[in-house]
Amino acid sequence: MADSVFAPWNDPEAKPLIQFKGVTKRFGDFTAIDDLTQNIYEREFFALLGPSGCGKTTLMRMLAGFEEPTEGQILLNGVDIGHVPPNKRAVNMMFQSYALFPHLSVYDNIAFGLRREKKPKDEIHARVKEMLRLTRLDRFAQRKPHQISGGQRQRVALARSLAKAPKLLLLDEPLGALDKKLREETQFELMDIQEKTGTTFIIVTHDQEEAMTVASRVAVMDEGRIVQVATPDVIYEAPNSVYVADFIGDVNLIRGTARARPADSPPEAAVEPTPETKPAPPKATASTSASIAERTGPQPNTLGRALHDKLLSPIFGKWIEDEPRRLPPPSAAEAPRAAAPQTPAAPPRPQDIPPGGLEIDWSTGQAAIIAANGDPVLDGEKVVLALRPEKLGIAKTRPDAPNTLKGKVIDIAYLGNISTYHVEIEGGVMVKAQAANTRRIARRDITWEDEVWLSFTATAGVVLKDE
Ligand SMILES: Nc1ncnc2c1ncn2[C@@H]1O[C@H](COP(=O)(O)OP(=O)(O)O)[C@@H](O)[C@H]1O
Ligand SMILES: [Mg+2]
Repeated sequence: MADSVFAPWNDPEAKPLIQFKGVTKRFGDFTAIDDLTQNIYEREFFALLGPSGCGKTTLMRMLAGFEEPTEGQILLNGVDIGHVPPNKRAVNMMFQSYALFPHLSVYDNIAFGLRREKKPKDEIHARVKEMLRLTRLDRFAQRKPHQISGGQRQRVALARSLAKAPKLLLLDEPLGALDKKLREETQFELMDIQEKTGTTFIIVTHDQEEAMTVASRVAVMDEGRIVQVATPDVIYEAPNSVYVADFIGDVNLIRGTARARPADSPPEAAVEPTPETKPAPPKATASTSASIAERTGPQPNTLGRALHDKLLSPIFGKWIEDEPRRLPPPSAAEAPRAAAPQTPAAPPRPQDIPPGGLEIDWSTGQAAIIAANGDPVLDGEKVVLALRPEKLGIAKTRPDAPNTLKGKVIDIAYLGNISTYHVEIEGGVMVKAQAANTRRIARRDITWEDEVWLSFTATAGVVLKDE
């Protein structure tokens, strides 16, 4: 169990390793980086994520010294490096198209930079040995690049970049050339190596899962600016804009107009549960695979699960089946309700909807969506409810939930571990719901053209201002 969480960005005393201060980079009259200010801390694994052309490589090239900022400053350990040449910076950059010397062995490729620096022979040997061990290439030291696999070549390039023990390693799409499985394995190796060496890594990727897997923080970029910087869990669970919500993972964006809900008066008349209401899901006793199998509610997708495993389990312990993951700080919705009329074991009922937040009018003929976690200052505004598909339940009968939508299954994407249902809601809006295929026959009864009910809690979505 980690007793202290690595989060120097929350520590006002922490000195950043890198500071971008109002950095602008123009090429002619084109602005590639637009007045960017950002701190990055020692030992961070910082990921830059964004569409092609948003300025990721330009930012890295300025750090490495291949480009100079048009305006602003870049500091390394408090010192302006704007005019320090690349080879005088404690920074190494590994490019997307790294090239190994084909005629040199793995060993000699790794030793190359050290020899150029005319280091003593035994020092070079010791360092190369250490790098070989770190990247698990000991057995391949004498092979030529064409005699090893793509993943191994990638590790040689990494070992070569780390050999000079840079303070900062810049990785520009380092895994782009690898196939998916190898890429995933290499991601874990990268994390391992980063931890063992204590080097600060900045990685550029256009693959959001990769960024979420490896990074301590993710910066989402758009047109030369950083739109949001946060830990992967916050980026996923609490995006600050429709752009970020839409860029990271799969999301339903439901547009409507917000209306503030009364903060403390009792919620409006409860709907009587319909006779066909499902029984409550079994109360999970322990996070065993059996309880996963029994669970009938929505499940997080693999990304969400991986994030939980990576980030939250050291803090909160193992996966707890009946506690939906909610990262935004506890809202009124989660506050314990005094004098609840039901016994603790009773299923959640519509009258349990916490007060406050927003209601969203989104489609004529449809009940307003209740978002108890919505910010009441958005009253009267055009808003977007960002709702992750794994937060929606799907059932053939109307569940007893704060928000229910009736629709028809148009498409089903079966992905083995999960299925995504594309449901057309009455009125024409398409909504995706994702369910884990934990039980072999579960949900097989839901098929194309079926009438279904989608349901979600009053805090399942994030209410964002429409841009
Ligand atoms: N040397 C250059 N001259 C002119 N325009 C450039 C140059 N380098 C990059 N750009 C432009 O700056 C923008 C950002 O490029 P880049 O940083 O490579 O984006 P990314 O790495 O995010 O795909 C792009 O529109 C690109 O065309
Ligand atoms: Mg690039």
